[in-house]
Amino acid sequence: MEEKKYSSWNIIKRLLSYYSKKKNLLILSCILIILSTITEIASPIILSNFINNVINNNIFKKKSIILLIIYFIMLQIFSSLFNYLYSIYFSKLSTEIITELRIKMMKTALKQPMKIFDKKPISSIVTKIVTDTESVKEFYEVIVSSFLKNSILFTVILATMFILEWRMALISSIITPIIIIIIIIHQHYSKPIIKKIKNSLSKLNNTISEIINGITIIQQFKQEKNFIKQINIINNNNYINKMNILKIDGLLLRPLLTLISSIILSSIILILQLFPAVIVKISILHTFINYLRHLNEPIITIANQQTILQQAIVSSERIFKFIDSPSQIYGSNTEPLNSGQIKLNHIFFKYPQTKKNILKNININIPDKSCVALVGKTGSGKTTLSNLILGHYSVTKGTIYVDKKPINSLSHKILRKNIAIVQQEPTILYGNLIKNISLDRKIEQKKIIRALQKSQLQELIENLPDGYMSILGQHGNSLSQGEKQLIGIARILVSNPKILIFDEATASIDSESEQKIQKILLSIRKKSTVIIIAHRLSTIVDADMIIVLDKGKIVERGSHEQLIKKKGLYYSMYTYQKNNKSI
Ligand SMILES: Nc1ncnc2c1ncn2[C@@H]1O[C@H](COP(=O)(O)OP(=O)(O)OP(=O)(O)O)[C@@H](O)[C@H]1O
Ligand SMILES: [Mg+2]
Repeated sequence: MEEKKYSSWNIIKRLLSYYSKKKNLLILSCILIILSTITEIASPIILSNFINNVINNNIFKKKSIILLIIYFIMLQIFSSLFNYLYSIYFSKLSTEIITELRIKMMKTALKQPMKIFDKKPISSIVTKIVTDTESVKEFYEVIVSSFLKNSILFTVILATMFILEWRMALISSIITPIIIIIIIIHQHYSKPIIKKIKNSLSKLNNTISEIINGITIIQQFKQEKNFIKQINIINNNNYINKMNILKIDGLLLRPLLTLISSIILSSIILILQLFPAVIVKISILHTFINYLRHLNEPIITIANQQTILQQAIVSSERIFKFIDSPSQIYGSNTEPLNSGQIKLNHIFFKYPQTKKNILKNININIPDKSCVALVGKTGSGKTTLSNLILGHYSVTKGTIYVDKKPINSLSHKILRKNIAIVQQEPTILYGNLIKNISLDRKIEQKKIIRALQKSQLQELIENLPDGYMSILGQHGNSLSQGEKQLIGIARILVSNPKILIFDEATASIDSESEQKIQKILLSIRKKSTVIIIAHRLSTIVDADMIIVLDKGKIVERGSHEQLIKKKGLYYSMYTYQKNNKSI
C-alpha cells in the first residue's frame, strides 16, 4: 500500500494535482505556448511562399521583399512576446506551487511529535524544506514547462508537414523512433557520468559547509591547506566528468542526429526521383528541410530532462512522506485551567527506541502554587519527567492529571498557555532582545520591557550597544548561560503560566546570575506551581518537596530537613557538593 502510494507515477500525479487550483493560469500559459510555437514555425512557410512567387513569376518584386521583411520582423516580435509572457506566467505558477508546498512543510515540521527528533537529525528536515523543494521546483519550472512546450512544438511541426505534403511527412516521421533509439543509447552512457557530477556537487556542498562550520577548529589545527586540497580534488573530478558529458554530446548525439536527418532527406529526394508522378514544389522541399532539423530538438530536450525528473521524484517522495507523517496528537479540551495542580499516577515511560523503562512507577502529588524540586544523578530521568508534564511525549503506562484533567485530553492551546519551561540552555534567536522575548507573540512592548526588568536583565541591557534593540548573535553566542536562562525566564514572565518547569543549567553559572534566578523564582512561586530540576542542591533547600530520582525511580521524598535527617542519597549528594564547594 505504502509502496504504491509513493510509486513514480502516483508522485507525478500528485505533483500535477497542484495545478488543479490554478487551472486558468495553466490554460493561459498553454495558449501562449501554442501561439509562440505557431509564430516560431511560420517563418519557413512564408519564405516558401516567397520562393514560390519568385519561381513562378521569375522576378523579384520590391514590394514583396519589403512585405517579407515586415512579416519576418512581426513574427519575431510576436514570437518573443508570447515566449516572454509564457515564461512569466509559468514561473508565477511554479513559484506559487512551491511556496504552497514549503508552507505546508513548515507547518508539518512545526507539528512534528517530539519523538521524531530523537531519531532524525534536524538537518534532514532542513534539507527537505530547502534542497528537496528546490529540486521539485525544477519539476514545475523545467520538466512540465519544457514537456508542454516541446510536445506542442513537435505536434505542430508534424501536423504542418502532413498538411503540406503527407507522403513526405510520412517518410520524415520515420525519424522519430530512430531518434528515440539514439537517445536511449546516449543516456546509457551519459547517465552514470551525470550521477557522478551530482555526487561531486553534493560532496562539494558538504565539504564547504563543513569548512565554514568548523572554521575555528580548522584554523586552530592549521588544516586550511588540507581542506583546500580536498576541494581542489572534488572540483577536478567535477571538471573531468563535465568534459566527458560534453564529449558524448558533441561527438555522438548531434552529429548522429544530423546524419540521420540528411539520410531521410536524401531518401525523400530519391523517392521523388523514382516516382516522377509526385510533383513537389521546391518551396515545400525547403520547408521540409527546415522542419526536419527542428523535429529532433523537442525529443532530445524532453529525453535529456530524465535525470532532473528522477531527482524530482526522489525529492517529492521524501517531501510527501514528510507531509503525510502523523503530527503530534493533542486532546480537544479547551476549557481554561483553574489551578496548576499536578498528579502523576503510576507513571511508566520508555522512549520509542529504548528497551527498558526510563521512568518506573512514579507517583507524585503536586498541589497548586507549590514548589517541587527534582534531583538525582545525571541520567536519572529528570528531564524525561518534565517532558511528560509538558505533554511532549505520551506516557507508556499510568496517567498524568493537570488540574484534575488527564493531560492527553487538553488541547494544544491550553497546554502551551499553562505549562511552560525554562530549558537548561534556552534557544536564543537571531534578533533583538524584544523579539527574543515576544517570539512573535502579540505582546505590548511595555509588558516586555517590564518582564526584562523583572528578570534582572538591566545590567546586560545597559552594556549592550543599542539597549533593548541590540541584536543578539546567532544562538546567543555573546551571552553567558546564566543570561540565557534569564531571557528564558523573561519569556515566561509575559505569559503567566499556571505551571513553570525550570531546568537548571548543568554548567556552573556565575553566582550572581544564580542569585538573580533564585530571586525571580521566589516571586513566581507565589503565582504558579514551580517544578525545579536542580543540580546545585543549595538552590532548592527551601522547596516544599524534594523528590530524589535514581535510575528512573523515586527513592526519597520530603523537605530538605527531612531528607538530611534521613541520611540517604540526598544527604550524600548534598554533603558531597558542600565539601567540594560546588554548592
Ligand atoms: N530522546 C531520548 N531517547 C532515548 N533515550 C533518552 C532520550 N532522552 C533521554 N534518554 C535516556 O533517558 C535517561 C534519562 O535521561 P534524562 O535526560 O531524563 O536524564 P536527566 O536526569 O535529565 O539527566 P541530566 O541531569 O544529565 O540532565 C538516560 O539514560 C538517557 O540516556
Ligand atoms: Mg536533564
